[in-house]
Amino acid sequence: MNNTIGIIGAMDEEVERLIKEADISSTETVADMVFHIGNLEGRQVVIVKCGMGKVNAGICAQLLISLYNANRIINTGFAGSLLKGLNIGDIIVSSEAVQHDYDVSPIGFKKGEIPFTGIIAFPAEKELVNSACRILSETLPDVRVLSGRICSGDQFISDKAAKERICSEFGGLCCEMEGAAVAQVCFLNKVPFVILRAISDSADETAGDEFNFSVFQSSVAAEFANAIIKLISET
Ligand code: ADE
Repeated sequence: MNNTIGIIGAMDEEVERLIKEADISSTETVADMVFHIGNLEGRQVVIVKCGMGKVNAGICAQLLISLYNANRIINTGFAGSLLKGLNIGDIIVSSEAVQHDYDVSPIGFKKGEIPFTGIIAFPAEKELVNSACRILSETLPDVRVLSGRICSGDQFISDKAAKERICSEFGGLCCEMEGAAVAQVCFLNKVPFVILRAISDSADETAGDEFNFSVFQSSVAAEFANAIIKLISET
């Protein structure tokens, strides 16, 4: 049976360590995205940087499924914290994902609801979620690993009002810009997915500086990548 894991990150920093560790046999460029096809810890993988935002992420997920026959997708990267006490370096494993900027409420739908489907949140695959939580906790014993809702939208959240709006309308543990698009595409194609996010900032006025200056220089990114490699090897 085909067993290909698609791995999507939005930025170079989110996929470069995984690409380096993998045995890449070929690369192909489709829709201006470079698909790295190869082997990681004995698993067939296709690793790709999709660029920021939901459209990029959605296209990328569909290409992984349609062109590369991915039958599981992992979306990895950074996220802003929506929860007090959730700190830089903590890790969120998606239980589900919502689009916090999706709003058809003026004509009678709930905030975030995809019209005529009744769906607001796309559930991640339970087995992948459980494995990810276990392996991340084991591999990174000093890091807090929480599972919960991830809120995605085409905005970098960097002010208190925007953060509070997302919290009050959707709850959730963290905000980012791709996960729910990957989730929706996976849902429509019946492909299991999980989103793994390391907290890079507080999604408030400090977020820009925190994002730019802390996480990429810290050990978080490297440790996070190692844990993801372990997850891939065990799933
Ligand atoms: N990714 C990392 N931090 C983020 C933030 N504050 N808003 C949106 N996406 C992010």
